[in-house]
Amino acid sequence: MKIKPGNVAYVSGGGSGIGRGLCVELASRGVHVGVCDIRGDDARETVRLIEGLGGKAIALETDVSDQASVDEAADTIESVLGNVSLVFNNAGVAMHGVPVEEISLSEWDWVIGVNVMGVIHGIRAFVPRLKKADGPAHIVNTASIGGFQVNPDFLTVAYSMTKYAVVALSEGLRNELAETQIGVSVLAPAAVDTGIHLSERSRPERLGGAYIRQENHFMGELIKGSAQPGDIACIVLSAIEDGGFYIFTHPETRPWQERRFSEILGAYDKAEAAAASVAAE
Ligand SMILES: NC(=O)c1ccc[n+]([C@@H]2O[C@H](COP(=O)([O-])OP(=O)(O)OC[C@H]3O[C@@H](n4cnc5c(N)ncnc54)[C@H](O)[C@@H]3O)[C@@H](O)[C@H]2O)c1
Repeated sequence: MKIKPGNVAYVSGGGSGIGRGLCVELASRGVHVGVCDIRGDDARETVRLIEGLGGKAIALETDVSDQASVDEAADTIESVLGNVSLVFNNAGVAMHGVPVEEISLSEWDWVIGVNVMGVIHGIRAFVPRLKKADGPAHIVNTASIGGFQVNPDFLTVAYSMTKYAVVALSEGLRNELAETQIGVSVLAPAAVDTGIHLSERSRPERLGGAYIRQENHFMGELIKGSAQPGDIACIVLSAIEDGGFYIFTHPETRPWQERRFSEILGAYDKAEAAAASVAAE
C-alpha cells in the first residue's frame, strides 16, 4: 500500500516507544493519527508532538484488553478523522524474569489480555471496517523476535508465548485477507530503547492497576541506547509500501532463528530415518 497524506491510522500503545515513533513518522508523512493508549496523558503528549510538527492527531484513552474500549476508539477516530486504512496493533507489555510456574494467574490474564487479546480486539474492530471501505489498507501487528524463539537467558516464556500467538494470528489473517486489498505485516524487533521495562505502570485498573514489577526492570539496562523507535517506524512504513510480511529489524538475530530451525529440521531428519527403518522392516 502506498501511504498518502490524508490516510488515517489507528496506533495502539501510541503514548510511548515504538507506538509513539510510528505516530510521529506517520504524521510526518501527512497521515492523520488516532493515538490510543491506556495512559491518556502519554497519548496526549504524542498528539502535542505531532501538532508541533504541523500534523493532525487525536488522543484516546484506550484499553486494548477491552473490546468495547477498542470499538469506541474506532468509532471516534472514524467520526473525527475519517475512515481508517492503517491499523497498528502495537500495544504490548513485558512479563520477564519469573519462572513460568510462578507467574500469577492475574499476570497471565494481563499479559494475554494485552499482547494477544489486544491484537484480536484490533482485528475484530477494524477488519470489518476496512472490508467495508474496500480501499487499500494495511494492518501491522507488533510481535517480537521473541515470537520466533524463546530467549534462553531472561525467563521470557509468558511474553514469548503471547508473541508466538501474534505471529500465528498475523500469518492466518494474511491468508484470510489474501483476496482483498488489505495487507498484513508482523513486526519482530529485538531490543528497542523504549519504556517496555516499566510496563507495569500501564496495567489496567480492572486487572489490578499500576504496580511495581521489579522483575522486568533489568531490561531497562539491556535496551538503553539500543535501536530508536523512530528508526523502527521508518522500517515498518517501508515494509507496508513494499508489501513485506515479516518485518525483522535486527539482522543480528538471524542466528537465533537458524538455531531453532536447525533443531526442528534435525527432528525431521530423525523422523525420516525412523520412517525409513519402519519401511525396511
Ligand atoms: N522495546 C523492545 O525492545 C521491544 C522488542 C520487541 C517487541 N516489542 C513490542 O513493541 C510493542 C511496543 O512496546 P514498546 O517497546 O514501545 O514499549 P512501551 O512500554 O514504551 O510502549 C507500550 C505502550 O503500550 C501502552 N499500553 C500498555 N498496555 C496497554 C493497554 N492495555 N491498552 C492500551 N495501551 C497499552 C503503554 O502505556 C505504552 O505507552 C509491544 O508490543 C512490545 O511487546 C518491544
